Amino acid sequence: MTGNDQHEPGRPPPDGGVRRCATAAAWLMASATALILVGGLGPAPERSVPGGAALALIADEEPLEDSSTEADAATDDATGGAATMTVEGTRVPDPLALDNGDTVESVQAWERQRRPELLDAFQTHVYGQSLPEPADIAFDEQTLGDGGKKVAIEVTGPEGSASFTLRLFVPASSEPKGTFLLIDHRGSVGDDPNSSSDYAPVTTILDQGYAFAALDAEEVAPDDAASYRSGVLDAFYPSGQELPEDAGRAISAWAWGASRAMDYLQDDPDIDPSKVAVIGHSRGGKAALWAGAQDTRFPVVLSNNSGSTGAKLARRDEAGESIAAITAQFPHWFPPTYQDYADSPDSLPVDQHELLALIAPGRVVVGSATEDGNADPQGEFLSYLAAEPVYDLYGLGDTGLSSQSWPPTTDKGFRGPAMSYHLRGGEHGLTSADWAIYLQGELFLR
Ligand code: GCU
Repeated sequence: MTGNDQHEPGRPPPDGGVRRCATAAAWLMASATALILVGGLGPAPERSVPGGAALALIADEEPLEDSSTEADAATDDATGGAATMTVEGTRVPDPLALDNGDTVESVQAWERQRRPELLDAFQTHVYGQSLPEPADIAFDEQTLGDGGKKVAIEVTGPEGSASFTLRLFVPASSEPKGTFLLIDHRGSVGDDPNSSSDYAPVTTILDQGYAFAALDAEEVAPDDAASYRSGVLDAFYPSGQELPEDAGRAISAWAWGASRAMDYLQDDPDIDPSKVAVIGHSRGGKAALWAGAQDTRFPVVLSNNSGSTGAKLARRDEAGESIAAITAQFPHWFPPTYQDYADSPDSLPVDQHELLALIAPGRVVVGSATEDGNADPQGEFLSYLAAEPVYDLYGLGDTGLSSQSWPPTTDKGFRGPAMSYHLRGGEHGLTSADWAIYLQGELFLR
């Protein structure tokens, strides 16, 4: 059920051979822009890519030059030996620096070399190893009152099966402009779309012409240190044994669940699979980012107030929730391999701007709130800024911001061609004001 033949040229299949569904034309335009940006290297060879298009790409043999104007000259012990760049005075790993020290200068090098390196590093050091695709997946659909659907997604792994619920509501009158897939960690979406909340305003979303789907995260992996394995994880790991140190825990499982929801959505006749945005708030926002980083079928990834181990830079450990605090309070969210960095966040080989960058060329959306101190809104803002060099490779580097200075204007949605940001006035929450910004304009258009 995971096949998808809308392949995007030049991107490695992340998950069962599927690729982000941005149109080939959009990708070609972005690639062409990237080529213009790296002009001056003389005539580039032509290379055939899937889909029959011929693109001029930089040859593999082409010597790599340091192209990042923001990159610092030296590597730094405070970043685990990685090459660094500086974002508004904060030093972070340079997302374009390959592990071998070379600098990524092309979309091709990013996708073939750097992107896999970063995905691997996030699995090894932060979120843990992701579950593999299930050996079997089945969708049991039930029609709900207002035309919605309740889908039991049953997945089978080597140790058994698990089931979790996806609810889907589509606007009655028109073809949806797109679909929001919420990683619902609050169990707040029921069978009746009229039981809306600010956090999940189903009827408002439908009225604006979008479809809305909610994944019941608690069923994927209970948000509880004692029982989190009892959802999907125990279908893959023997329940009588400790999980491997580096196995993903609840956040990883929720992200994986979002991909399984996408497995369903991509074959639902009411849904355009090239317009599915995965969205999550707070702990759900951490999972949404990790889902979108790995699964390139999501053309839009929205993280609302995702904070620590979400959009927030880990290297601002002293601001808001630290690695020590989050791993102590929520030991079931991340593997012990991440806890190892509690005393030495600067030695993490990655930082969270690189997670945002993994969503390129899909749209990354960061939503923050002024009084959300625990999530460190400034750290979320800096992370957003620091993802820009990777978007720039695709010719999509415009953050949409009018200024890089903190704080930006509040309650205003900033939107570049593939990056969106807003800072809402107020406290931690996914509110109607956040949704108003997400529903504004055409998220799925460049
Ligand atoms: C806690 C936790 C955060 C998390 C938040 C939430 O505050 O410290 O990391 O984002 O819960 O999910 O609401």
